[in-house]
Amino acid sequence: VGNGLFRSALPDLCRSFSRRIAIVADPAIGATYGKFLEKTTGGTLFTFQGGERAKTRETKQELEDALLHQKFGRDTLLIGLGGGVVTDLSAFLAATYMRGVPLILVPTTLLGMVDAAIGGKNGVNTPAGKNLIGTTYHPLHICIDPELLSSLPEKEWIYGLAEILKYGLIANKEIWEILENNPSAWKESLAELILASVQTKKKVVEQDPFEKGLRRILNFGHTIAHAIEKLSDFQMPHGEAVAIGCIAESHLSWQLGHLKKEELVRIKTLFRKFPFLFQLPETYGVKALLDAMQMDKKAKEQNPRFALIDRIGHTLAFDGAYCSAIPQKELQRLLEEKLCLVI
Ligand SMILES: NC(=O)c1ccc[n+]([C@@H]2O[C@H](COP(=O)([O-])OP(=O)(O)OC[C@H]3O[C@@H](n4cnc5c(N)ncnc54)[C@H](O)[C@@H]3O)[C@@H](O)[C@H]2O)c1
Repeated sequence: VGNGLFRSALPDLCRSFSRRIAIVADPAIGATYGKFLEKTTGGTLFTFQGGERAKTRETKQELEDALLHQKFGRDTLLIGLGGGVVTDLSAFLAATYMRGVPLILVPTTLLGMVDAAIGGKNGVNTPAGKNLIGTTYHPLHICIDPELLSSLPEKEWIYGLAEILKYGLIANKEIWEILENNPSAWKESLAELILASVQTKKKVVEQDPFEKGLRRILNFGHTIAHAIEKLSDFQMPHGEAVAIGCIAESHLSWQLGHLKKEELVRIKTLFRKFPFLFQLPETYGVKALLDAMQMDKKAKEQNPRFALIDRIGHTLAFDGAYCSAIPQKELQRLLEEKLCLVI
């Protein structure tokens, strides 16, 4: 992680691994940062239409065919340059191309830097759902250069910020305090916040690479967020849903007697200082939410399970499960109780 790394160190690093370099990007990033990398590494740029809808098996196959056509072999170094869509897809591509070629990820969105590029998960969407096909495959390096964010549209920043706030809530009080002490100028601490977020996720993933327990804490806020996204037919951006989910699951932590009221108030107050939309989809209703939650990957016997916090910066262990089931009826009562989703 460092300002300027992309231009000063990345080209040499890439060349030190291979002379056969394939750079995968979407057209917008390809035209700017991709061209620079192509020129300085002697690599070849492959672009695909960006956006969530392009994160598919078909796109992966088109890229594979393009690489094969240009005779990229086992000596290929693949570089995934872009937001989470590009890093998810290119990491999956690297994992299976020639049974696996080395990979360097260069995230260019804040969400990519603090979340999507970290932790080794990759994948594509299918009509049956998001991220259903993929692997766990770690890159050789992840190059995070906050200067690349200078061109990022304002709304994209917020999506990364929701995850940074989540790290503060679940495991890193310092992150929370940096944001709380200076919410209007949080970008002044950007490099520090990114590094602390990466370290927080890295530590969790290293201790529990296959999500047997501790890694579930990364899912804080996401049980409700995923249900809201589903109800909105994926019209609501993930980051917006995570912000609502974090508040709602903090509220649940309080309702269940784990979190003090003052801490809950601090949480709601800080989230409110950032321009999240906090708007629920029209299709919202507690019953519909509960239905959507039954498909959550942590659900047990159809009862959703939640990571819960007992203070800012600390998630409850629940005997190593790091999540706790709330029976449907009880959850319905808690959600209806005037109303944890209202900010
Ligand atoms: N693998 C994981 O662990 C993990 C974790 C979280 C999210 N994800 C995935 O990440 C994806 C979302 O990622 P995202 O939020 O980065 O969205 P994204 O990749 O769609 O990028 C958002 C938009 O920003 C543009 N963009 C990217 N970098 C830019 C820059 N520097 N300047 C200007 N424009 C730029 C892109 O062209 C795109 O239009 C989802 O598919 C999600 O499933 C994966």
